[in-house]
Amino acid sequence: MTDLTQTLFDILGPKGCLTAAGDIAPFITEFRHRKTGTALAVALPGSAAETAATVRAVTDAGLPVFPQGGNTGLCYGSVPSRGVVVGMRRMRRIRQIDVESGLMTVDAGITLAEVHAAAETVGMQFPLHLGSEGTAQIGGLIATNAGGTGVLRYGAMRDLIAGVEMVLADGRILSDLDGLKKNNTGYNLTQLVAGSEGSLGLVTGAVLRLSPRMQSRAHAWLACDTAEKAIDVGTRVRRAFGNQVEALELLDRAQASYVVRHVRGTRMPLTALPAWSLLIELASPRSDDALTAQLESVLAAAMADDLIPDAVIAQNENQAKEIWHFRHSVTEANKINGVGIVMDTCVRTSAIPAFVRDADAVVAAKFPQAERAITAHMADGNVHLIVMFPHAVWSALPDKDAMELEVERAIHDVAVAHGGTFSAEHGIGRKLTSEMDRLIDPVRLELMQRIKTAFDPRNLINPGVLLPAARP
Ligand code: FAD
Ligand code: LAC
Ligand code: ZN
Repeated sequence: MTDLTQTLFDILGPKGCLTAAGDIAPFITEFRHRKTGTALAVALPGSAAETAATVRAVTDAGLPVFPQGGNTGLCYGSVPSRGVVVGMRRMRRIRQIDVESGLMTVDAGITLAEVHAAAETVGMQFPLHLGSEGTAQIGGLIATNAGGTGVLRYGAMRDLIAGVEMVLADGRILSDLDGLKKNNTGYNLTQLVAGSEGSLGLVTGAVLRLSPRMQSRAHAWLACDTAEKAIDVGTRVRRAFGNQVEALELLDRAQASYVVRHVRGTRMPLTALPAWSLLIELASPRSDDALTAQLESVLAAAMADDLIPDAVIAQNENQAKEIWHFRHSVTEANKINGVGIVMDTCVRTSAIPAFVRDADAVVAAKFPQAERAITAHMADGNVHLIVMFPHAVWSALPDKDAMELEVERAIHDVAVAHGGTFSAEHGIGRKLTSEMDRLIDPVRLELMQRIKTAFDPRNLINPGVLLPAARP
C-alpha cells in the first residue's frame, strides 16, 4: 500500500477506498467498453467534507483526481489515467425539499430516477428525462449540462439548477446553495460549473428547480415520409399547444429498426416502420385539459393535408409508457447493433433536412461500409446522426480512433457549414478535444483555458477533459 492509499483508507475507511483490480475495473472502463483507463485507487466519499479531504490528499501528492458519476457519459469524460477516481455513489441524500420555493437540495451522487421519485412524493416533478436516468447522477448531469427530451419546454440541466456545492482543487468547498431566484453579486459560478465536465472541481451537492406535476397528458406516434413534413407537423403542434409541448422527438427508419430488433419489450405501435417517426408528448398541470381530443383534431388536419400517412394516439398510460420506453432505448439498441459513432450536432430546426441530406451524401461517399441512423430532439435542432459500423467491420479496422475522428470531422464540417455546432448536449469529454481546437473560436478557447487555470492551476482536476492541451 502506498502512503496515499493509506491516507485515503484513513479518511474514507475500507468501504470508501478500492484498490483491488477487480473492484476498480468498472470505474476505469467506459460503459460500452470502448475505452479503458488506469487508476491507483477509487475513492468513494460519503460527504462533501470527505470529498474535500480526499481531493486535498491526492492533489497534495501531486496526482490527478478524476470525478465520476454514473459513468454513462458518451464522450469518455470519466475515463481516468493514472490517478484517483472519485465516485459519488455513496452521496445520495436528499438534503431538503422546499415546496413553496420549488427547490430540492441533494447530494451529487443521487440518480436522476431517485430525484424523479422524490419530487413525485410532494406533488412536483423534476422535468429532465433521458435514457440513462436510472444510473446517471445529478453531479454528472450538471457536469455535462445534460439535455434529453424535455429541453424544449424546461431547458437543459443548467436551467434546472439554482446552485451547486463544489470541492476545489485545493480541497476548499465552494458553496452556492442559497437557492435564490435573484442574486446579482457578480459572476454566476454555478452556471460556469454546468457543462464544465469536472474540469473545475467536484460537484458534491446541488439545488434543483422543481415544477408542478402534470395532471393531463397526451402522447402520439406519427409516421412521416420526409423530415420536412415532420418539421411542418411539429410547427403546427407548437402553434396549437404552445408551452404544453413536452417533447417532439424524431427517429428515422434505421434507428427504429435497431430498437425493435435488439431491445426486449419494445413494440412499434404502427403497423409498418415509417421513413420517419415523430413522437409527441403534451402535458398540462390542469386535470381537465382535453389534450388528447385537441391533439386528435390537429393530427386529423395534418392527415387531410397529406403530412402524415399514419398515426397512433396513446389510449392509456401503458401505451404512453411503451412509446417513451422505445424512444429511450436507442442507446442500448445501438450498442448491440454495432459500433455507432454518435454525433451530437445541433442546427436550427429549419436546417435539419438540408443538414441530413448533405451528411448522408458524405456518409455514402466516405464510409460506404457503414449505415446511417438518426435520432433527433427535433424542436431543439439536436440531431444525433449515427454512423453505424457492423461489429465485424469495426473490429477489423487497423486504427479505430483514427476512423472515429475521421467520421466525426466529416459530419461536424457539414453541421458547421449549416450554421451548427458539433456538441449540443453530450459535451466534449476526452473524445472531442481536438475538435475544440479545430472548430472553436481561439478567443473563446483562450478565455476557457484561463478559467481552467484560475480554478485548477496545477491541472490536477480531470486533466485532459474538455480543453485541448495547451500549444507549446
Ligand atoms: P459520468 O459519465 O460519470 O461523467 C460525465 C462527465 O461528468 C465526466 O467528465 C465526469 O468527470 C464528470 N462528472 C461526473 N460526476 C461529477 C461530479 N460529481 N462533479 C464533477 N464532475 C463530474 N445525455 C444527454 O444529454 N441527453 C440524452 O438524451 C442522453 N441519453 C442517454 C441515454 C443513455 C442510455 C446513455 C447511456 C447516456 C445518455 N446520455 C444522454 C449521456 C449521459 O447520460 C449524460 O451525459 C449524463 O449527464 C452523465 O451522467 P453520469 O452521472 O453518468 O456522469
Ligand atoms: C439520446 C442520446 C443519444 O438522445 O442523447 O437518446
Ligand atoms: Zn440526445
